[in-house]
Amino acid sequence: MFESLPLLPADPILGLSIAYANDTNPNKVDLGVGVYKNDAGITPIMKAVAEAEKLRIARETSKAYTPPAGYPGANEAVMKLIYGADHPAVAAKRVRTIQTPGGCGALRVAAELIQRAKPGASLWVSIPTWANHVPLLGSAGLKLREYPYYDYSTHSIDFAAMLATINEIPRGDLILLHACCHNPSGADLSRAQWDHVADVLEARGVIPFIDMAYQGFGEGLEEDTYGLRLMAARLPEVVIATSFSKNFGLYRERAGSLSLVFADEQQANAGNSQLLSVTRALYSMPPAHGAALIDIILHSDELTKVWSDELTLMRERIAGLRVQLVQSLNGLQQGRDFSFIAQERGMFSFLGLSVEQVHKLKSEYSIYMTDTSRISVAGLSKEKMDYVAKAIVSVL
Ligand code: LMR
Repeated sequence: MFESLPLLPADPILGLSIAYANDTNPNKVDLGVGVYKNDAGITPIMKAVAEAEKLRIARETSKAYTPPAGYPGANEAVMKLIYGADHPAVAAKRVRTIQTPGGCGALRVAAELIQRAKPGASLWVSIPTWANHVPLLGSAGLKLREYPYYDYSTHSIDFAAMLATINEIPRGDLILLHACCHNPSGADLSRAQWDHVADVLEARGVIPFIDMAYQGFGEGLEEDTYGLRLMAARLPEVVIATSFSKNFGLYRERAGSLSLVFADEQQANAGNSQLLSVTRALYSMPPAHGAALIDIILHSDELTKVWSDELTLMRERIAGLRVQLVQSLNGLQQGRDFSFIAQERGMFSFLGLSVEQVHKLKSEYSIYMTDTSRISVAGLSKEKMDYVAKAIVSVL
């Protein structure tokens, strides 16, 4: 039977990590996958996470199944992190949150639930969007439609074009929005733009589906939730997928959450029962370790501070690397202005190179990035900056 399956190319993002690992060039630079790295090129275990792991080992007395929604304490703490302490939708008991295997798990479970509620529902995604959104959400049966977002010529959001399209989205369709640190462009909506989008979605009855994979990497833990909290306060239904891979550095532990805002408490109870039947049919219950660590950290004021201080340093380091990259690139040539990179947020920016130029960087300099010329800024370091900037300029 399996002879019918053709060989597929490597994943456009994860495949880069494998190619990078196999590269023997000592000068190699990994700007591919969105993974935070320190100056030594290491993805560190965050201090609060290491501390929580010790506590978890000391405290855990059983490996019996966790409840299907995951750690109840973790879900409650995660809701505070997402919505803040006194969000009206939470107070009205309209929100249900489950723990998921990473942000991908949250996206997929959400897509399965939407498919149950409204088979073949249309979900509008930004152009461009994260490469994995399309297979992850599309293969659950959602119909993916597109709205313009990033303008490669101005290196910024084409808000007029975005609005023109979302003003035409039919009532009851969903729109996928990135809460912060838009992947792959790094270009985020301003507060005024979020307000405007919320007006349109409210008026047209379009349901926001918000992917928040980088809370804390944009402007700050609170600041990055502006659009999400606004939508959850104003609209009857909102879907929120969250990943803790980046902000807790828990990539391999697969920790995420899916939080749904329903129109009222009764619908929330029914929706939650459906949600748990979706996850039972997919994987029964999520892995415990990552969520247990989040539970420990968020229930300790001391560890929460250690964690958020370290996250602040990570965010500031990336912002500093952005400024240094702009200075290096603009200092080496006058033909192109790369200042936009310093205005963007989160892990990613597009360099604006052709596929040929990207391939040349890989074959001649062992510098890895996706074919779209998306770079993971966190993969840079002071030490590598000169090498990378000169290589980029050489292929321009
Ligand atoms: C990325 O975009 O590089 C990250 O979100 C990692 C991934 O799974 O693609």
